[in-house]
Amino acid sequence: MKQTRRTLLAGMLLSAFAMVGCGQKADTPAKSAASAPAPATMEKVYTVGSDASYAPFEFQNEKNEVVGFDVEVLSAAAAKGGFKLKFVNTPWEGIFAGLQQGDRDILASAITITEERKQTMSFSDPYFEARQLIAVAKGVSDVKSFQDLKSKKIAVQTGTTGDEVVKKLLGKTSPNIKRFENMPLALKELESGGVDAAVGDNGVVINYVKNNPQHGITTVEDAKSFAPEFYGFPVKKGNQELLDKVNAGIKAIKADGTYEQIFNKYFGTK
Ligand code: ARG
Repeated sequence: MKQTRRTLLAGMLLSAFAMVGCGQKADTPAKSAASAPAPATMEKVYTVGSDASYAPFEFQNEKNEVVGFDVEVLSAAAAKGGFKLKFVNTPWEGIFAGLQQGDRDILASAITITEERKQTMSFSDPYFEARQLIAVAKGVSDVKSFQDLKSKKIAVQTGTTGDEVVKKLLGKTSPNIKRFENMPLALKELESGGVDAAVGDNGVVINYVKNNPQHGITTVEDAKSFAPEFYGFPVKKGNQELLDKVNAGIKAIKADGTYEQIFNKYFGTK
């Protein structure tokens, strides 16, 4: 089941790791009967789930590899913490279930640490501060603040903190909230005039507007209406051993300047 989701390209080498990982648990006899390489050299590779439609935090490059700010931060932390990672593009919709079921060991997906999510997963220390940002059509929109969206049609990515804030303003069941499985789709709906605004994480909205200048979108900031949000890397609830490794890695890259280097690469100096 895990195998079918992998790209062919990444598959060959990586599935070899995964199969050995399963073999250790499930079929020791088969393994000992076949080739038995020194187990001491077999290091655990943690599978990281990222919804790679979220540039600049996680997206796919031309080679279909998952890249971005989150990938570099977690990879640098892993290098310091002495553990190995494999990033797998994982749709947002099933990302938390994948962690719960053990298909993913860590999530790196610009995930805001919330009280509600803390009930079902364990978060690393925060690694990035974000805020919601409003996107509207350039030149024609009269929206100046979040309150102005009360009677408008708004696009969000389903189940995100953007969805949460808009739900609070318009009411949970409002037909004016249009939900999309990823953020680019929500922003495209705005471009095509299907909604009056889109609400999402500032870094992603800014990045999209910057890279699509011909699409006539602009942003409306409303720092008073939106609380600061902090991204963390969740692991399965209670996986303290992995959490400790991730946190030690984050601490180390913050202390030695690596984090700052990565931050500046993606967001310029503060
Ligand atoms: N920060 C927001 C949240 O946690 C949005 C994250 C969406 N991430 C993604 N890769 N699609 O709800």
